[in-house]
Amino acid sequence: MADRLRIAVIGAGRIGAVHARTIRDHDRAELVLVADPDATAAAGLAATLGADSTDDTEAALTSEAVDAVVVASPTPLHVPHTLTAVGAGKAVLMEKPVALEVAAVDACIAALGEHAGRVMVGFNRRFDPSVAEVQARVQAGQVGTVEQVTIISRDPAPPPSEYLKVSGGIFKDMTIHDLDMARHLIGDIASVHAVGQHLDPAVDDVYDAATLTLTGTSGAVAVVVNSRHSVAGYDQRIEVFGSAGTLEVINQRASSVRLHDASGTEQSGPFLPFFLERYQRAYAAELGAFIEAALSGTPQSPSIADGRAALALAEAAGESARTGTTITLTQEVAR
Ligand SMILES: NC(=O)c1ccc[n+]([C@@H]2O[C@H](COP(=O)([O-])OP(=O)(O)OC[C@H]3O[C@@H](n4cnc5c(N)ncnc54)[C@H](O)[C@@H]3O)[C@@H](O)[C@H]2O)c1
Repeated sequence: MADRLRIAVIGAGRIGAVHARTIRDHDRAELVLVADPDATAAAGLAATLGADSTDDTEAALTSEAVDAVVVASPTPLHVPHTLTAVGAGKAVLMEKPVALEVAAVDACIAALGEHAGRVMVGFNRRFDPSVAEVQARVQAGQVGTVEQVTIISRDPAPPPSEYLKVSGGIFKDMTIHDLDMARHLIGDIASVHAVGQHLDPAVDDVYDAATLTLTGTSGAVAVVVNSRHSVAGYDQRIEVFGSAGTLEVINQRASSVRLHDASGTEQSGPFLPFFLERYQRAYAAELGAFIEAALSGTPQSPSIADGRAALALAEAAGESARTGTTITLTQEVAR
């Protein structure tokens, strides 16, 4: 087994920069190359991290100087970039969502064949230390039988409209993380009911907020609450309520200092600004798991099948919001 994984980052945008820095800081990884058709963006990011850059994505995906790639390009490019890289023998950490349609994921899985295990899908929240602890304690039975799960996820501000145009909408772009979380915490989902809202007229999308009810095959129900804006910062909370207790992940703040005096008690400071700050440790743990599996040749997790299941739930949520009906999922479609 090689000691270090030589990695190229494909896409020098918001999440590409997070991954590039995380790779630079990992002792079993080497950031070799940053690729982006925007040569200035690629060179700017690579220069700060001591890597090479290129505006030729295809060359980076197949380069003999790299063992693995992180696909952080816009969502419609995830499947073609992943297939090219896997075809050239690389391991791939592919950002979420896998694609904009389940049919495209199925075609990708068919094309990957026996190599599907080389692909990890970037559901970074599974690797957040607090989420991992909650999941382990739920599995250990500490809350008894899980009855209700609440997942609140609000971004501080909407992304630019160029991003929104290719994002696939709130369910596939944003809720997808929470759909994966729901599966992670309550298992297979039997039905989805979603309500969308358009709250901010400046957001050029069908919905910029949503509330979903997911009924698990276990009987547990998960509620997901999303918004593209939150004046207090990045709002990330999870509660798992069971017959024997409740586990909770509270919002994190830059400061944990509180004043208690005659006028009351204070919890000062806003929430952490955004995903980079809140999930820094999750991205590092995600990369660590990816490197370990790539170097040892074991199957990656979360898998492309996990990516498919979350996308199928996102498609069902879109249909539910559009039609006002509850969508029942068949085993073949979404679990
Ligand atoms: N897991 C997470 O927490 C997380 C967070 C943010 C974004 N994402 C996902 O990552 C992807 C990128 O999001 P972002 O916010 O970084 O977007 P972004 O718009 O900031 O960056 C995308 C970059 O890809 C580049 N690009 C365009 N075509 C390319 C090509 N052919 N080859 C290589 N690069 C190309 C663009 O020039 C841009 O620099 C999206 O699919 C998004 O869903 C995941």
